[in-house]
Amino acid sequence: MTHLIAPSVLSADFANLQKDIIMINQSEADWFHIDIMDGMFVPNISYGFPVLNAINRYATKPLDVHLMIMNPDRYLEDFKNAGAANITVHYEACTHLHRTLGAIKELGCRAGVAINPHTPVNVLEDIIDYVDLVCIMSVNPGFGGQKFIENTYRKIRTLRLLASGRNNDLLVEIDGGVGSHNALSLLKAGANVLVAGNAVFAANDPSIAISELKHLNSDMLTA
Ligand code: DX5
Ligand code: ZN
Repeated sequence: MTHLIAPSVLSADFANLQKDIIMINQSEADWFHIDIMDGMFVPNISYGFPVLNAINRYATKPLDVHLMIMNPDRYLEDFKNAGAANITVHYEACTHLHRTLGAIKELGCRAGVAINPHTPVNVLEDIIDYVDLVCIMSVNPGFGGQKFIENTYRKIRTLRLLASGRNNDLLVEIDGGVGSHNALSLLKAGANVLVAGNAVFAANDPSIAISELKHLNSDMLTA
């Protein structure tokens, strides 16, 4: 599978959101990455259902919803109804992760788990067969535009080893500080979904920035 690019709407211009959504629609991006923050699990509040519904009205690509909220079970159905194709919850925010993932699947969504930078990959050992996507946070969640944490490469390799033979189709998504300077190395380590906020929206031409991330081609990957 070729890798997927998911621009993070958190870095979009909220006063001109429709314009940025259409830009993503027309670009080579694969998904919209949607960051939901509750001011409890992370020290920031992003946006909620009114904005998500507005995005969903215009978006023509799947919505990859990243829930940085406590007890996400309360809202899973609402996120499905707001257009989520993927719902990713945090390992650290779920007491009954297996149940939560089951509920996401029953809604017909891809079920994802995100882990914070300090959370070892190995905590996923007994759930790895059951998840569709693992999101490795390469910054402490809460804000866009932060510096990438280098230990992420090691976590990607450990995760691929853990999933090997048990979940070879696993989507391995990297979120935080991703850009043209590290994208290729992340893919080589085993990632196949790249989230990019600042690297896309701070670029002179966001649509070209997306293409550049998308066209790290297979020659480069096997080199
Ligand atoms: C951080 C969010 C990220 C963020 C990424 O908590 O989960 O998705 O928007 O932004 P950049 O790419 O700017 O680090
Ligand atoms: Zn995110």
